[in-house]
Amino acid sequence: MKRILITGATSGIGKQLAIDYAKLGNEVIACGRNQKALDELVEIGAGRISACQLDVSNAEQTRAALADKTGLDIVILSAGVCEYLDVEQFEAALFERVFEVNIFGAMRCVEAVLPNLAAGSHLVLVGSTARLLPFTRAQAYGGSKAALSYIANSLQVDLAERGIRVQTVSPGFVETPMTDANDFEMPMRVTVDDASKAIRRGIEKNRTDIAFPRVFATVLKLLSLLPQRVQVAISKRIA
Ligand SMILES: NC(=O)c1ccc[n+]([C@@H]2O[C@H](COP(=O)([O-])OP(=O)(O)OC[C@H]3O[C@@H](n4cnc5c(N)ncnc54)[C@H](OP(=O)(O)O)[C@@H]3O)[C@@H](O)[C@H]2O)c1
Repeated sequence: MKRILITGATSGIGKQLAIDYAKLGNEVIACGRNQKALDELVEIGAGRISACQLDVSNAEQTRAALADKTGLDIVILSAGVCEYLDVEQFEAALFERVFEVNIFGAMRCVEAVLPNLAAGSHLVLVGSTARLLPFTRAQAYGGSKAALSYIANSLQVDLAERGIRVQTVSPGFVETPMTDANDFEMPMRVTVDDASKAIRRGIEKNRTDIAFPRVFATVLKLLSLLPQRVQVAISKRIA
């Protein structure tokens, strides 16, 4: 049995992970703002899921809520938001909103849990394959996930000596409320069940970057190796 803390557990990918890990007999601490969704999870978990209400954009609340969460084997930071930019109405505040949760929120969680992570534990940051190409309107979202990927890679270097395994998750499109809001075609969109399976397997196998679905992620990774002007040309065609 493992003790697993998951942020963004009230919806989508984080919720499915919380349910699946609990079903497998693990102890899950589910974090999010939505108390009703947390209560539902506790009920579904039948004694294996406990709730931790927190807003990662509130530094003090995050620190206080996570300070006593010791003995963690796996920490999965899945809380995230997505907003697309209309470049004709360029809004710096949109970047602030997205980075507030996806970067500063995630780092507040890392700050709170890191002192309590022991050798052999996993710190898993949920990014996105959106970081791989300069997608239309994704300046804030893709930028935040590119930053998260850099931070995670760099943390791998500095936390290796403590035996903490830092892993990233790079999903393609997954059926969740986040993508339900999209008004464009989403190739190879997978279910949260598929996402949960891929993430759990990747964590167990100690994969550095858990990217899925495989074909979609591989194509994007290959495209990201092309010269920048070619990447921009491809993204223009997609736009
Ligand atoms: N779905 C996809 O296709 C896809 C693809 C690539 C990457 N991702 C990434 O996967 C992660 C999960 O996405 P999802 O699709 O599962 O999204 P989702 O269904 O919209 O869930 C987002 C989660 O983030 C939490 N959250 C948002 N703001 C928060 C805040 N200020 N404080 C605490 N929790 C907050 C929400 O909980 P509360 O509202 O309860 O706070 C919710 O549980 C995100 O990091 C996303 O960027 C998703």
